[in-house]
Amino acid sequence: MPDFDEVVDFTMDTKLLASDAQLIKPPSFDLHGQRALITGSTQGLGWAIAQVYAASGAHVILHGRNEQRLACRQRQLNEAGYPASFWQHDLSLVDEIENSFNTLAPTPSILVNAVGVRLRHGFSEVSSADIISHLQTNLSATVILSKLVAAKMARDGYGRIITLSSIAGSLARSGDAIYPIAKHGLEAMVRALAVEFGSDGITSNGIAPGTFATESNQLLASDPVNGPLVVGRNPLGRWAAPAEITGPALFLASTSSSYVNGHILVVDGGFSITF
Ligand SMILES: NC(=O)c1ccc[n+]([C@@H]2O[C@H](COP(=O)([O-])OP(=O)(O)OC[C@H]3O[C@@H](n4cnc5c(N)ncnc54)[C@H](OP(=O)(O)O)[C@@H]3O)[C@@H](O)[C@H]2O)c1
Repeated sequence: MPDFDEVVDFTMDTKLLASDAQLIKPPSFDLHGQRALITGSTQGLGWAIAQVYAASGAHVILHGRNEQRLACRQRQLNEAGYPASFWQHDLSLVDEIENSFNTLAPTPSILVNAVGVRLRHGFSEVSSADIISHLQTNLSATVILSKLVAAKMARDGYGRIITLSSIAGSLARSGDAIYPIAKHGLEAMVRALAVEFGSDGITSNGIAPGTFATESNQLLASDPVNGPLVVGRNPLGRWAAPAEITGPALFLASTSSSYVNGHILVVDGGFSITF
């Protein structure tokens, strides 16, 4: 971690200009020495982030429900020469998160909350059971895990928590109620973690992706009505490739984002600023 106190000088007097003070070095995006737990990283955005964190030097801890898929992704990283392990746990089993997480050692210094399941239902069609299970997986599980990880990071005095929200985390759409409720809640969690753990050396930020061409969006992308609608409304006129999430995710995981805390970084090609 760079010592930023070193470069703080409020005097601004001319002796600074005359001195042989060192020039500021370019920011680092290197993750060597970091352990990054990325939930929901067997496919989609989580997997894209896992690959780039691994290539940037982190030991990546993959996560998902299916052991075979996890082992396959671990092998892919290992064969590329990157250290990786995995944590298998179904996050819908919220009561079991704490015991299962406690088997992981040592503590991750980076947590990316990428698990998210999609439910496109309005209030009139969604059942109470679906509301409960959706909010458990998309909201409660991530809040519980983040609380556990933050407490351990606080003991180490350093951490980066990055939570994948959505443009649905700040917008609303008729007929699509529960997923946005979960994402709004996650954005509140991002800020709550930021204010409670900032003084422990932990930053908490969110990323709000727009429309990425991931496995979970294949149906929408190929829909003859909604597919072109999505593209037509986007100022960039296209879907995002999963790799396009990795620059923002690497920035927030690195020491280069040291003073960014409680922020939601929208990565949507400008989708949410048009009307
Ligand atoms: N794709 C987009 O355009 C987009 C847009 C806005 C926001 N987002 C958000 O970005 C995140 C990633 O989206 P994505 O499209 O890449 O997701 P995805 O392709 O559906 O992948 C979801 C990942 O989560 C894991 N997972 C699902 N349910 C789980 C559970 N109960 N317990 C543990 N793991 C579980 C899956 O692993 P296994 O199936 O192997 O268990 C998989 O690795 C989500 O939070 C999503 O809401 C995505």
